[in-house]
Amino acid sequence: MAASAKQRIEGLRRQIEHHNYRYYVLDDPEISDPEFDGLFQELQHLESEHPELRSPDSPTQRVGAKPLEEFEQIRHPEPMLSLANARDADELRAWQKRTVNMLDKSGDGERGQGLEFVTEPKIDGLAISLIYEDGVLARGATRGDGEIGEDVTQNLKTIVAIPLRLIGADGKKTPKMVEVRGEVYLPLEAFEELNEARVHAGEPTFANPRNAAAGSIRQLDPKVAAERPLSIWCYGIGSTEGVELETHYESLQWLRDHGFRVNRDVKLHRTIEGVIGACEEWEKRRESLDYEIDGVVAKVDNLRVQSELGIAGREPRGAIAFKFAPTTATTRLVEIKWNVGRTGNLVPYAVLEPVEIAGVVVRQATLHNEEDLARKDVREGDEVVITRAGDVIPQVVSPVLQKRKSGARKPKPPETCPACGTKTIKAEDEVWTRCPNRDDCPGQVVQALKHFASKGAMDIEGLGEKLVEKFYEEKMIRSLSDIYELTVERLEPLEGFQSKSAENLIAAIGKSKQKPFPRLLFAIGIHGVGAINARVLANAFGSIDALMQADTDEIEHVEGIGPVLSGTIVQTLAEPRNRELIGKLKAAGLNMSQEEPGVRGGKLSGKTFVLTGSLEGMGREEAKERIEELGGVVSGSVGKKTDYVVVGTNPGSKLDRARKLDVETLDVDEFLATIADV
Ligand code: IVH
Repeated sequence: MAASAKQRIEGLRRQIEHHNYRYYVLDDPEISDPEFDGLFQELQHLESEHPELRSPDSPTQRVGAKPLEEFEQIRHPEPMLSLANARDADELRAWQKRTVNMLDKSGDGERGQGLEFVTEPKIDGLAISLIYEDGVLARGATRGDGEIGEDVTQNLKTIVAIPLRLIGADGKKTPKMVEVRGEVYLPLEAFEELNEARVHAGEPTFANPRNAAAGSIRQLDPKVAAERPLSIWCYGIGSTEGVELETHYESLQWLRDHGFRVNRDVKLHRTIEGVIGACEEWEKRRESLDYEIDGVVAKVDNLRVQSELGIAGREPRGAIAFKFAPTTATTRLVEIKWNVGRTGNLVPYAVLEPVEIAGVVVRQATLHNEEDLARKDVREGDEVVITRAGDVIPQVVSPVLQKRKSGARKPKPPETCPACGTKTIKAEDEVWTRCPNRDDCPGQVVQALKHFASKGAMDIEGLGEKLVEKFYEEKMIRSLSDIYELTVERLEPLEGFQSKSAENLIAAIGKSKQKPFPRLLFAIGIHGVGAINARVLANAFGSIDALMQADTDEIEHVEGIGPVLSGTIVQTLAEPRNRELIGKLKAAGLNMSQEEPGVRGGKLSGKTFVLTGSLEGMGREEAKERIEELGGVVSGSVGKKTDYVVVGTNPGSKLDRARKLDVETLDVDEFLATIADV
């Protein structure tokens, strides 16, 4: 029995490793997620029945290691060097000339003439070294000072794109030792989500994806790294015993073949002009990548020539980094201004002396919120560091304290609302200052209107931010119910409106009347009632009337709703103006209840879904609505409470995270089957 269990366990480990490789490295899975999950669960089960067969290199052992007291220091088998920089095409040409001359002098002119180069993106992440002994990941370390790094193996193991064993490691050619070098990074989308979550949790934000990746890898508790969807690009082999390769290009292929993630757009060139062309192409692509790159690395392809060229200081002569314009810049912060959000919170932002960052002129940057502003201690007149990555909103990272002028004062939120002039308040138990003029503050009203029409709420196509502002200024919309009083005839005289666009907008407004009740409950913008709470409340009470009749006690009894929120809900719904608004929306024909009796205990009641990739045969919004109608909740990010991740084509990092957290996944067919027979 134990022998056959052993075989089965081994077989399952191989299969899981293979499928992880197909999925994470080749981006070309062979089996569905549920099939994969089946294999994984079987392995988990067998390992728990046969603890003696457990092994640290099993795919089940990526997460769950205990927190460390401190990291151990590791001496790298070969130093991790730096790269010389080239700032422009001429510096690349000069590097090529120097290289050829050097080879000429050493009598290897022939090779100098026939020199070939490889270009690859320079990833802006955290350099790491992975050591495989007899095919098994033995240690992983940060770069440190280049000679000695920190042993962060536990954290690196949580990155599923890093193989725990070399693919084909049982073959005869398993190297005794191989050191793989690469760059760990956090995808941009995950970086934004992480910062958003930290703002809400009152934790400091990360300045950029690189810091976020480094911060995750340098955590003593591996749970933190496991929760962040880190990935890796591998770019080279360090020290080896038992790997014979002639060119860098071959070594990248070797890495791919043995299970590592290597960029597919790595190119081989016969001329330096080809290298320059590749640098230009990468610079153009930079904005559209979902990871940050800060340049292109050009390497002499022939490894023997590389080592002949040697090292100058800490920089190998056989490689060079073509650096792009940085994504950070410093500039003067002219003024800290405040906006008012839809629920009345005052939100600070920086007005800057315009500064160009990677080809874009930046004039404003976010300061997130009052707490973050105080923590960073940013003041007017300061020289500040700004970053901008991809299409992520520019942010103020920090002041340059050495350059602070004496007398620079700590900013204070305004005493009166910047939009309506009402005296602002800061409750004792709150960290943010607010404008209490919920009903008449034009700032709040415009934000509330924008929220109401937005995609996640009533999803009124065509009623974007600019148009909301225009309607507000023209006094055509002053409250949410005014949206439903618009007509084609009233729109047509407006500048920029033709009859077709007026008709389209009115049709979109009409369509929004059918949106399910939980969306409406979210859209009306009760302080603290987000999409998820709105769904929970709709399921519990079934209609706006029932909710309006409920007292704080009843609302508080709903799972997930606390006493503070239930108080806010009762108070908000009791206000005459809000009652009037709800009456008007009702009269306009909006959905104020959930009729299906099944919804309360609906088929998907209590289940949280996350959608990723495009869902064939069904729009994302439609899928969301369907889930909500059946009592489920759709969330934007995968967490421990997620029940299912629905995976369409070209899924994003959410799927990586689902696998990491062991969340069940559904392909589109399975999802359709789940929601069909109701
Ligand atoms: S080759 C001699 N290739 O850039 C060092 N490095 O400035 C050989 N980096 O610490 C490095 N992407 O972490 C190489 N495709 C790439 C890279 C890359 C990013 C980082 C690396 C190194 C730093 C050197």
